[in-house]
Amino acid sequence: TYVISLPCVDVMDRACVEECPVDCIYEGGRSLYIHPDECVDCGACEPVCPVEAIFYEDDLPEEYAGYLTDNADFFTETLPGMDLPLGSPGGAAKLGAIAADAPLVASLPPQEN
Ligand code: F3S
Ligand code: F3S
Repeated sequence: TYVISLPCVDVMDRACVEECPVDCIYEGGRSLYIHPDECVDCGACEPVCPVEAIFYEDDLPEEYAGYLTDNADFFTETLPGMDLPLGSPGGAAKLGAIAADAPLVASLPPQEN
């Protein structure tokens, strides 16, 4: 899977969303998240992010290693204010933005950008 990491937090440019052929880039409150089971590894999102937040999982810089789990947690954890995990919604557009974040992103102080 591809992974969205720290530079997206509090930026949320969303250029990546337009590129994804399977609509697997989901919007949280402070970051976007790639669904690890829905992503088909096409790589179209990676070059369009203006802050270089997107990496193939094997290419994640060491300092962003926690974002592999955090992108998955957005879908497998029960997020604050929700009754169930999101699971595999099968498309971000129809789901819309979620006003919550995965644990690592939620723990961050506001990011200066
Ligand atoms: Fe975030 Fe970059 Fe997409 S800032 S929303 S990963 S284009
Ligand atoms: Fe979509 Fe990027 Fe995966 S464009 S299919 S999230 S590599």
